[in-house]
Amino acid sequence: MARVLVAGASGYAGALAARIVHRHPELELEAVTSRSDAGRRLDDLYPQHRVPMVLDALDIETEALPPDVEAAIVAYPHGASAPVVAALHERGIKVVDLSADFRLRDLGVYEEHYVQHTAPELVPDAVYGLPERYREQLRGADLVANPGCYPTASILALAPLAPYLADVVIDAKSGVSGAGRTPTQSTHFVSADENVTPYGVGRHRHTPEIEQELAAAGAPGLRVSFTPHLVPLDQGELVSCYVTLTDEAADLDIAGLFEEHYGAEPFVELALRPPGVRDVRESNVCRIHAVRDERTGRVLVFAAIDNLWKGAASQAVQNLNLMLGLDETAGLC
Ligand SMILES: NC(=O)c1ccc[n+]([C@@H]2O[C@H](COP(=O)([O-])OP(=O)(O)OC[C@H]3O[C@@H](n4cnc5c(N)ncnc54)[C@H](OP(=O)(O)O)[C@@H]3O)[C@@H](O)[C@H]2O)c1
Repeated sequence: MARVLVAGASGYAGALAARIVHRHPELELEAVTSRSDAGRRLDDLYPQHRVPMVLDALDIETEALPPDVEAAIVAYPHGASAPVVAALHERGIKVVDLSADFRLRDLGVYEEHYVQHTAPELVPDAVYGLPERYREQLRGADLVANPGCYPTASILALAPLAPYLADVVIDAKSGVSGAGRTPTQSTHFVSADENVTPYGVGRHRHTPEIEQELAAAGAPGLRVSFTPHLVPLDQGELVSCYVTLTDEAADLDIAGLFEEHYGAEPFVELALRPPGVRDVRESNVCRIHAVRDERTGRVLVFAAIDNLWKGAASQAVQNLNLMLGLDETAGLC
């Protein structure tokens, strides 16, 4: 049993990661940390997760860790994550970071969209944690940058088409838990309920991450139009992609291409009709439907995930399984 620490377990993603690790047949949840909720039991804060452990105030940067911790999931906000990840990495602990701190390979792009990086020397060491794209690099990796929730769905939807992409519009919707536990004006129930609102128009931070990974998949220099919307759901995410292909791809077998890429994937389902967020709720599954619109010639791709699961915590455990040499699906089915 590999012993795992979850830092930031009082947040939505960290608490769920703690639950999945706690129930995992080959992992042992060794410690869960929080600053503001230290001393509270996790099953008091989130009864639905049923993790009977007390949140610890442990300062990972300065204090000794519980002995024999082999791996950690860090569920802090960007900026706060990097120094903690660096401290864990330095002590030889395998880390999955849920924040954006190690996702962008170009430091300049990271600092343009986020904050000044405090551990830039580690950026080249991090493996982008999308197993369907980077499985071999993830096996045995020491530092993994878990993808953003929108990038997870968008990249899985579009990567098979990457060499043929001429133009892409991604229209995305997310439940309110995507914004984390601390409410804001726009995520307040009174603003979000019975409402649908676009946000981050033309400047959302996940855009460079999606472009980076589509470039790696075969679409260098592509600029995507990505617009997320807040919808009145607690959790769930759907991306609808409107794709113009290059002329050479006029006769591309869309269904065959997606089957070739994902037919053997344990957590990607190819659907005969567009998915809804309920189809994947509380699962590590990304459910995809891709079809050519014969009238316009565009290809339409729809992908649904649970933002807290495949978009964050369960994908982190999928990565941890690969990093620790376990069955990739352990604790996730
Ligand atoms: N929510 C999602 O759907 C989702 C999806 C993909 C990725 N993510 C990423 O996962 C991370 C966690 O997201 P979340 O939604 O779980 O956020 P959250 O609910 O706001 O939780 C954040 C956690 O980090 C701790 N924290 C906050 N500020 C901190 C700081 N300055 N230093 C150290 N700890 C701090 C919080 O507890 P204390 O303040 O008590 O320490 C809490 O445990 C973020 O980087 C987010 O971008 C989230």
